[in-house]
Amino acid sequence: MGMWSLDRVDTPALVVDLDTVERNLHRVHRQAQEAGLALWPHTKTHKAPWLARRQLELGARGLTVAKLGEAEVLRDAGLGPFLVHYPLVGETKARRLADLLATGAQVQVALDSPQAADTVAEGARQAGAEVGVLVEVDTGMHRVGVAPGPQVVELSRYVHRRPGLRFLGLTSYAGHVSAAPDEEGRRQVLRQEREILQRMRHELERQGLTPQVVSVGGTHHAARMEELAGVATHLRPGTYVYNDRTILLAGSCREDDLAASVLVTVVSRHDRWAVVDGGSKAFSSDAHREGGYGLVMGRPKLRLTRLSEEHGILEWEDGAEPPRLGERLRIVPNHICTVVNLFDRAWAVRGEEVERVFAVSARGKSQ
Ligand SMILES: Cc1ncc(COP(=O)(O)O)c(C=O)c1O
Repeated sequence: MGMWSLDRVDTPALVVDLDTVERNLHRVHRQAQEAGLALWPHTKTHKAPWLARRQLELGARGLTVAKLGEAEVLRDAGLGPFLVHYPLVGETKARRLADLLATGAQVQVALDSPQAADTVAEGARQAGAEVGVLVEVDTGMHRVGVAPGPQVVELSRYVHRRPGLRFLGLTSYAGHVSAAPDEEGRRQVLRQEREILQRMRHELERQGLTPQVVSVGGTHHAARMEELAGVATHLRPGTYVYNDRTILLAGSCREDDLAASVLVTVVSRHDRWAVVDGGSKAFSSDAHREGGYGLVMGRPKLRLTRLSEEHGILEWEDGAEPPRLGERLRIVPNHICTVVNLFDRAWAVRGEEVERVFAVSARGKSQ
């Protein structure tokens, strides 16, 4: 039963459509199961314990996080196990990892250097625990990850020999898939990732270090699971819960699958433009190469063309119905993960009725 109508919610507000979220979860979880892939969803998208719990209920084996602080929030909600998919480097991280392990949390870490392996081993030692490790391979994004080659075997062996660590296998994030110009380009990125991971796995097998896990990300992968066949064992989609304009424009979801938007009000009207009460503090500054900062739901001829902190500039094509002063619009952002991180709470709706309000408890956990 609805509590109140969305009309009464102050703006700007993060709005989540529950039916669409459920459909997104069911679809991807079913497809992963059919493909024999273990799901470890990346929780950085929703940062909300109730959604992480739902992902586990629907068959996820564990939860991926980027930050220890995110894992702490989810652990406090009784959830886990965790994959910290971020290199932990330095004494402070070792201590915090030890604190997390000391509460009984099961933790795996992805890393790309002996220094990070030492940090994780020190955390494991302090807590008297063992930590599973995935060695991250750079499959073309050129962010983190060991360059494919003998260095991957060397680091895997280092991890294998290090007390407190258990070498589990390989991981990769080919995030550059969203920058590919077309579908053939996107598939090319995924095939290159598969080829590199296959080669690295064979090399490890030859050296007696058979990886149990080969983990890949994300929502673009989830939409093209056939490209992962034969090498991936684990999948880490994050954005699939909500989707966003970037995922839509890459053909990795349908318009019906867009579950989250920012509700804004038109606060100023001019001849050729209007202003809404959400700027970069509501939409983040994440751009898209096609221009614009979001997709105005139900009003495809309106474009969010410019942002300052608290103002969003809407423009429209000749002949389009301009927005009215006071009109409320729902705008799907380019990148939902950075947007979610800007809001304390989200309004969960069915249709136009608010069913519940939930806290984005792991927002701002940048450590
Ligand atoms: C390491 C890693 N894995 C998985 C994901 C999830 O990818 P997506 O948000 O496309 O679902 C991300 C997203 O940034 C990531 O950085």
